[in-house]
Parts: sequence; C-alpha cells; structure tokens
Amino acid sequence: MSSRVIGQSRPAITASHLRTDPWWALPITVVIVIGSFLVYSTWAAFQNAHYFAPPYLSPFYSPCLYRSCLHPSFAFGLPDIHVPIIGLLSPAFLILAGPGLFRLTCYYYRKAYYRSFWLAPPACAVPDVKRNYTGEAKFPLILQAFHRYTWYLAVLFIVMLTWDAILAFRFPNGFGIGVGTLVMWINVICLAAYTFSCHSCRHVCGGYVNAFSKTPVRYRAWHFLTRLNERHPMFAWLSLFSVALTDVYIRLVSIGIIRDLRII
Ligand code: FES
Repeated sequence: MSSRVIGQSRPAITASHLRTDPWWALPITVVIVIGSFLVYSTWAAFQNAHYFAPPYLSPFYSPCLYRSCLHPSFAFGLPDIHVPIIGLLSPAFLILAGPGLFRLTCYYYRKAYYRSFWLAPPACAVPDVKRNYTGEAKFPLILQAFHRYTWYLAVLFIVMLTWDAILAFRFPNGFGIGVGTLVMWINVICLAAYTFSCHSCRHVCGGYVNAFSKTPVRYRAWHFLTRLNERHPMFAWLSLFSVALTDVYIRLVSIGIIRDLRII
C-alpha cells in the first residue's frame, strides 16, 4: 500500500529528471546517422552523374525519367527540367520526394526525430525542451496522417527497384552476377522488408476485418506482417544504410575507384 496520503502533494524535486544512465546516447546517434544520410543523399542528388555503372542503376536515380538519363527507365522520357539558380534539376529530385515522404511520415522515424531533433521529449522520463509541443492534432503535423497513402507510392518504388535488380543480371556481354548484383538485391530486400513491415501495410491487410475466421488468407498474411512489423525499427535502419551504400558502391564503380567483381 502506498505510504503517500491521498491529497498530499509530491515532494519537490528540483532536478529536471532523475535518469542517471546515458539516455542522451541514442538521440545523439540518431542525429548523426540521419543527418549524415540527409547530407549524403542531397549531395548525391545534386551530382547528376556517376549513378549508372552498367548494368547497375543507383536507387537514388530510379526510375530515371529524363530522356537524357544515362539509363532511361522508360522508352518515353521527360524533357530535362531547368530551374533558376540550380540549373538542371537532377532526376533524383523527381523521385526522392516519394520515398522521402514515406520515411518522413513513418511512425517509427517520427518518434526518432521528435526525440532527437526536436527534443520533445529527448527520452523517456526526460522533460521536453520546448514546452509548447501540441502533438499531431494541428497543422502542420496533422499532415503526418497521410502516411497511409504514401505507402502505396512506396510499393510502386519497390516494384521499380526490383525491376532494376533483375536488370542487374544483364551485363553488356550477357547474363552474369557481379558483386553489384548482390548489393542491389540486398538493398531491394531491405527496402521491401521496411515497406511491408509498415503499420499501414498491416492495416491494409488486416484492417476492417471483423472475423478473421472468415478470411483465412488475410489472417495468415496479417499474421506474417505482424511479425515483420515487430522488427520495423530494425528494417528502418537497415534499409537506410542499404540504400546509401548501394549508391556509394555504384558511384565508386562508375568513377573507376573500385572494380566490380564478376562472380559468374
Ligand atoms: S510506419 Fe514506418 S514506414 Fe509506415
């Protein structure tokens, strides 16, 4: 039974929190990793070069939509887009918005960046740095609810990246498998695991079902997705690394700094 008498106020605690463990390590790590990814992906998107090393196409530039692309993804191509000051708008900018919005509004990443970048709160049992956090009930954060629609967009990208990974077997001299082929397939698997472990995907599959006993196929799919969903944070990080490292690999091969090893 509690020793505190009902109505008695709590003892005054002057410390802002009582945590003594290194709780700050996680938010700092998140800032470094996500910050590095943002810097690298923006830099890579501006390059508009070295994103194709036959038969490998960087995921940052897929699908490559301009007629002038080093490896156009479709027979029809968009004319190059020039914008003032920047000049030619790299094809990467046309497509990064899709996966970018999906990640930006992801439930897991929200938690990560609310804590690490906005310090609202930085960790459990540590108070918010800014006191006027209003949650996601008002503009602009209410727009985070659109995450469920960005999921459909993300699935389209998985289809296109899978097609690129299939093309990664098609070398100029015929069928083959290189280290780059494996790199591209690992990337697609990580991205697919992230996309299909999404909470919205689980809802698309199992939501609105009143009796799973009447929809055994949906139940089995929902059950499988639930197990994936439990690992969603891990897939979020793995796919972030895989997409950046795939671009780095293809870029280095394209520049000639490393040679792609042909396995078959
Ligand atoms: S919840 Fe993370 S991608 Fe949907």
